[in-house]
Amino acid sequence: MENLTLTRPDDWHLHLRDGAALKAVLPHTVRQFARAIVMPNLKPPVRSVAEAEAYRDRILAAIPPGQPFEPLMTLYLTDNTSPEEIVAAQATPFIKAVKYYPAGATTNSDLGVTDIRRCDRVFEAMQEVDLPLLLHGEVTDGDIDVFDREKVFIEKHLIPLKERFPKLRIVLEHITTSDAVEFVRSADRVAATITPQHLLFSRNILFKGGIRPHFYCLPILKREEHRLAILQAATSGNPKFFLGTDSAPHGRDSKETSCGCAGCYSALHAMELYAEAFESVDALDKLEAFASFHGPDFYQLPRNTDQITLTKTTWRIPDELPFLDSGLVPLRSGEEITWQMV
Ligand code: DOR
Ligand code: ZN
Repeated sequence: MENLTLTRPDDWHLHLRDGAALKAVLPHTVRQFARAIVMPNLKPPVRSVAEAEAYRDRILAAIPPGQPFEPLMTLYLTDNTSPEEIVAAQATPFIKAVKYYPAGATTNSDLGVTDIRRCDRVFEAMQEVDLPLLLHGEVTDGDIDVFDREKVFIEKHLIPLKERFPKLRIVLEHITTSDAVEFVRSADRVAATITPQHLLFSRNILFKGGIRPHFYCLPILKREEHRLAILQAATSGNPKFFLGTDSAPHGRDSKETSCGCAGCYSALHAMELYAEAFESVDALDKLEAFASFHGPDFYQLPRNTDQITLTKTTWRIPDELPFLDSGLVPLRSGEEITWQMV
């Protein structure tokens, strides 16, 4: 039997939700990962140090007993975030970054930023105290084609932002295009997270045999040429690219409806999915650095010291997992997968 033993990985982009949803999904992440950067797009969002502390306490209380896990918290940037809150965040050991959502871009982003330039005083403070900025890198203008929203964000907002704040550390989250790969490669102090769905699927899967809402996430899946560019970046050994699942649970009823929510659920089997993607280009030897080294190095945190093992075994991803009243459909539900974490 073929085994793959790796330093325990971390998830550098994760949605945990709150309350009963948090309790349902957290054990999956804790089983695979030692730490996770927890997204702040709750309802209402996590906008202050005090709210981040209270949310962290709720996460800690939901961890299955005896299993070590460290939630790394983020603040949700709004038009009204103050430079003082940034200084306070930087002084709080468990807060690691600030998340930018363009208003209206995705789930619970209504209180996001309406115009990125309104935040320049906050970016100045973040650059000064060296607190990383995490970007949902999409424009929201209705006249921009949904498949071009990342590329236009880079041209219109990110390149100018980087010129205004050259020392600001930035993570372009869940990249989906060759344009993003190229920008991240060339820009100083900029890294990117990559999800399993963007490594494994092009946009064709969204319409394979009918409309497939459980593959719908934002930024949306792109053409095959973009998937290949991202897969090349993830498996290149370049430390600018690291693991961030963007696992984003939504109950079945809010996915299978006339206006379904964006988000793929991958916390159950994240490492298995990444292993399959890396194996597809014969790059399993690059998985450990992508999953376990590049992230902590960027965030200036120690690498984990324990290990996980994946075994080459075929198993069937469940059709549905228990979640609130309506169940949760994991990414690639009902299909076989050839790696299993033991
Ligand atoms: O697909 C997504 N789901 N993209 C996001 O940016 C947000 C996330 C969520 O919170 O459901
Ligand atoms: Zn996300």
